[in-house]
Amino acid sequence: MSDNLIERSERHGLVCLTVNRPKALNALNSALLDALAAELDALEADPGLRGVVITGAGDKAFVAGADITEMRELSAAQARDFAQRGLATLKRLERLPVPVVALVNGFCLGGGCELALACDWAVASDNAIFGQPEVALGVIPGFGGTQRLPRRVGPAMALDLVTTGRKIDAQEALRIGLVNQVMPQAELDAYVERLAKQLAGNGPQAVRSAKQAVHDGLEQDLDSALALEASLFALAFAGDEQREGMGAFVDKRKPNF
Ligand code: CAA
Repeated sequence: MSDNLIERSERHGLVCLTVNRPKALNALNSALLDALAAELDALEADPGLRGVVITGAGDKAFVAGADITEMRELSAAQARDFAQRGLATLKRLERLPVPVVALVNGFCLGGGCELALACDWAVASDNAIFGQPEVALGVIPGFGGTQRLPRRVGPAMALDLVTTGRKIDAQEALRIGLVNQVMPQAELDAYVERLAKQLAGNGPQAVRSAKQAVHDGLEQDLDSALALEASLFALAFAGDEQREGMGAFVDKRKPNF
């Protein structure tokens, strides 16, 4: 791997970003947040984007947290700026119009777990370790962990994790709903290939609308959210994708999206 802090590759419109600081277990420092923001500029401007996968370089860590050596000397005001930067970057990742998947290939701690939580779902290798150990450093999660973790796994389990700082393995992460699937590390690449092909085979606007309905709907009351779904469902019938998708079914052929 080169010296780029974020490596980028692509298959079938799925962009794979690899956080590349393996000597520091891919810990997120300011330079890395800048590199991620630059990648987001490109992803947000890419109309052909079908999905994003984010992972860590090496076979030991996804991301072992925000960079402790950089945070060590921060004043309270600087810490607020650092947190705001991390939060804004992760919000942009979360708001990408396509599915964003964390491919957790090892330690996924602190800011790393927060990065995974900003993704639409996570898939983990069986050696992955998760946790929000910030309290052991005398701080709390600063990139959204106290808010996205309870929304993902429920408040009681989130409180357990953020107040004890205990680490959990991939199987426990699966059981509590922090990850969707667990597999041997060697199978992660095949997972990405499968995901890329699945997304490439679906109506691109339909995939974007499905994500929008879930995300925007969760921020509304149920009746408003159901009305939003009805609007997006109707909108699908105003475009070409619905004619191609349903036409292909009736003609017994593969749709060409
Ligand atoms: N920040 C900076 N450097 C880190 C790091 C981090 N979060 N995590 C690991 N590293 C560095 C280590 O300092 C070490 O560097 P050197 O070789 O230069 O000494 C290198 O990565 C390898 O790490 P270890 O030697 O510690 O590896 P290990 O296998 O013995 O332990 C580990 C692995 C359990 C993940 C351990 O590195 C660890 O506990 N890391 C810190 C995890 C953590 O507390 N994360 C939360 C950070 S706070 C945060 O993220 C705040 C927020 O919400 C924004």
